[in-house]
Amino acid sequence: MLTAQMLRKGLKTRRFGSKVFCFEVIDSTNACARALASCWADEGTVIVAEQQTAGRGRMGRTWVANPFENLTFSVILRPETPAEGINLLPLYAGVAVAEAIERATGLSVVCKWPNDLLVNDKKVAGILIEGSLKESSVEYVVIGIGINVNQREFPPEISSTATSLIIEGGKEYSREDLFREVMRSMEAHYKGLTSHGFQRIIPKWIDRSAMIGRRISVNQNGSILTGTVKGVNEQGALLLDVDGTQTTLHAGDVTILGTNGR
Ligand code: BTN
Repeated sequence: MLTAQMLRKGLKTRRFGSKVFCFEVIDSTNACARALASCWADEGTVIVAEQQTAGRGRMGRTWVANPFENLTFSVILRPETPAEGINLLPLYAGVAVAEAIERATGLSVVCKWPNDLLVNDKKVAGILIEGSLKESSVEYVVIGIGINVNQREFPPEISSTATSLIIEGGKEYSREDLFREVMRSMEAHYKGLTSHGFQRIIPKWIDRSAMIGRRISVNQNGSILTGTVKGVNEQGALLLDVDGTQTTLHAGDVTILGTNGR
């Protein structure tokens, strides 16, 4: 089982991972992190679990991952940004985690809006951001990250769209090393963004996006929109050309057409 001592060994970050709490079983690391963030927890505190009984995914879905094989954790942030700035956090988290996975494995990772990470067109990691606002500023943000690391098989309903680092890289990876890379990468990008503005993440996200110029379909609560991706705007919303009309999307479930990268 992962322990805080194992994960923090050799970690040189200042804040990210300065406090790590590991659980063998928990309902959801995001739920736990939110509870801690609403009372005392410092920025950079991380909650890690081997197994979640109610792991949360985007759009009300659940996140299921085999215990002892993957990384499921949540990081507490207290960014000093007006509430709108929070919309760029998915792009920040996507870029930071993608870079960390690349550094730890050598695999090439691309970002899919809003914050999925793909290797060879299949989903290798998901990110769920939840937060609390107080008087139109951000009280706290929880960045929940699930990375499929050493899991070789997935349930039938996701087996054609999900992958893991062991499947793509053909070898087992150290979860501790990967965790430390994620902490380093998140801290490095966060420093830059908090001093120079979160907008700075946009070109970085576009550089590693699987989407610009691609045909996609977007499911927004059952209504499907198909178009060509033009970019993202200053709020992190996706700009889509739908039959010649520019459409701005703030949420949705994207399928990149011509691949299986859901
Ligand atoms: C998604 O792709 O739908 C987002 C998945 C996010 C899963 C992670 S696992 C750790 C953290 N705790 C949760 O309950 N969810 C996130």
